[in-house]
Amino acid sequence: MTKAIGVLTAGGDSPGLNAAIRALGKAAIGSYGMNIIGFRDGFRGLVENRMIRLNRDTLSGILTMGGTMLGTSRDKPHRMPVGGKILDMTDVIVENYHKHHLDVLVCIGGGGTHKNAYKLLQQGLNIITLPKTIDNDIEGSDTTIGFDTALGIATEAIDRLHSTAHSHHRIIVLEVMGHNTGWLALGAGVAGGADVILIPEIPYQVKYVADSILRRSRGGKNFSIIVVAEGALPKNPDEIPADIRRDEKDAQNGRDGADPSGDAHTMRLARELELRTGLESRVTILGHLQRGGAPTAYDRLLATRIGTACAEFIHEGRFGIMVAARGEGVEAMPLDDVVGKRKAVPLDHPWIQSARGVGTCLGDEKVGS
Ligand code: F6P
Repeated sequence: MTKAIGVLTAGGDSPGLNAAIRALGKAAIGSYGMNIIGFRDGFRGLVENRMIRLNRDTLSGILTMGGTMLGTSRDKPHRMPVGGKILDMTDVIVENYHKHHLDVLVCIGGGGTHKNAYKLLQQGLNIITLPKTIDNDIEGSDTTIGFDTALGIATEAIDRLHSTAHSHHRIIVLEVMGHNTGWLALGAGVAGGADVILIPEIPYQVKYVADSILRRSRGGKNFSIIVVAEGALPKNPDEIPADIRRDEKDAQNGRDGADPSGDAHTMRLARELELRTGLESRVTILGHLQRGGAPTAYDRLLATRIGTACAEFIHEGRFGIMVAARGEGVEAMPLDDVVGKRKAVPLDHPWIQSARGVGTCLGDEKVGS
């Protein structure tokens, strides 16, 4: 019997989403003769029955496009703003899933989307998730759709900041996204040759950061590039008091995986470094530039690999899984093993060792003499 797939994208967008939708759709239709509909704006589209039939025409020409052709939102099924109230719309979603005679709902998203999808799995729906986020923080997947593109954008920003920092003898503090993990900051920082990299996994001390800048000055380099992850925090909160902790902010927003960037904190860090080093500082908040535009070749390949594999898993009737990236291939990870976990940067990760190896200050110890 012809299988019917529903697909949605939820959470923050990331480059490569369209490539994933296209790969899933083309493989499902072309290889298995399935039907596929896309719901608009995340879980909200499923509540409101706003959708688009995906076919060869609608799936054509989207491979290289940034964003998501379906639209996205951070709406949760069980806490959705409707008519000025926050309502649990889970039953409506279950009803609509059956109304459209779906055999599976494919949810493409990050950590928050995985939690929401898992709740629907517990309601008896067939669910498959695909891991996408520029944060690269999804447990069980080697990497995530969008991370490589964001990494390239952040690295290019560091390259460009070098010449102006050098010319003006300034400290430039670049804040990058990543939510509560440091993959983006660490990867871009190492690739761009940042002098200091601060990530949430390694609480930093301002004195070590300032020392490393002063050491460079003594060596004749009167400029420094500091890459700070939006979730990075000092070891001693009094050093750079945060307005509010990131997890408190998340709770206040009632959202998973999203909150405003930590820019006030980054501004204060830059000011503190100015005071301690005597060098002028400037701050660049890279923000949503990291999520915009066309995906890299790597993200297109990854999204196509994961999307086509998803169609195969549907064909085999394997549900309740995330299609994880594993080495050059994919793996079906039970959602039980993924949901509620966050893939932080391990402290013995090769990127950390590489950073230390080239003398980059990670804010937790004195670098050099
Ligand atoms: O999870 C992806 C991400 O870009 C995070 O890096 C960032 O903290 C958050 O989303 C920003 O969310 P929004 O676009 O909703 O402001």
